[in-house]
Amino acid sequence: MEKIELMYEGKAKKVYSTDDPAYCIVSYKDDATAFNGEKKGTIVGKGVVNNRMSNFMFKLLEKNGIPTDFVEELNDRDAVLKRVEIVPLEVIVRNKAAGSFSKRFGVPEGTAFKTPTLEYCLKDDDLGDPMMNDSQIIAIGAATQDELDSIAKYTLKINEIMIDFFKQCKVDLIDFKIEFGRLPDGTIILADEISPDTCRFWDVETGEKLDKDRFRRDMGGVEEAYAEMMKRVGLDG
Ligand code: TMP
Ligand code: ASP
Repeated sequence: MEKIELMYEGKAKKVYSTDDPAYCIVSYKDDATAFNGEKKGTIVGKGVVNNRMSNFMFKLLEKNGIPTDFVEELNDRDAVLKRVEIVPLEVIVRNKAAGSFSKRFGVPEGTAFKTPTLEYCLKDDDLGDPMMNDSQIIAIGAATQDELDSIAKYTLKINEIMIDFFKQCKVDLIDFKIEFGRLPDGTIILADEISPDTCRFWDVETGEKLDKDRFRRDMGGVEEAYAEMMKRVGLDG
């Protein structure tokens, strides 16, 4: 399958049409942004890490019963995906407090939760992706109740699968963000990516951050952290 026309360029990816309208090709860039695009930079090699890690995670999730948009890895930066209509929600799961949760609720980073939290944000850069509850989502038609039920069910299962997998990599899964899409027949499937851009990964022993927070917080060692995560999941070399 080959790229035909650039359909969409986001902050971290380009999406191309192909000769089959049921599929698209995603191409991961090294561009990095934070704080809704206010902070800009480059993380050398990030596109390769995110493409390969996301494809690996989507295959693992498929094997465990989660439907996804992943079809085929084409090369280091490109993958074929099923074309979906993206549900305009960022779905965030947290196992320990960090980032905006810590800030908003005054809970120190690293505090373990009794149960995972599930949050939705409306995908709208102009509005700064505001948090939205179930009734608000249904009221504006961003998703239906049935769709939200599927999304919540899949998301909590994805969290369990990912916690177990990353534990084996000596990585504590603090939180992550995922997105879902609708196939033409309305079926809800996992879409977008799972990578160090979209998850918080802390070393189980030292608590060292192995994710995009190193970029967001100007901590240095950003490329090294992405490379370390590739190694941890067994994708280096
Ligand atoms: P937060 O603590 O900033 O709300 O982030 C929660 C998780 O979501 C964290 O793993 C990073 C991820 N995330 C994204 O993937 N994209 C975003 O735009 C934001 C704000 C967070
Ligand atoms: N999506 C955020 C941005 O717009 C990046 C992040 O914090 O992950 O810049």
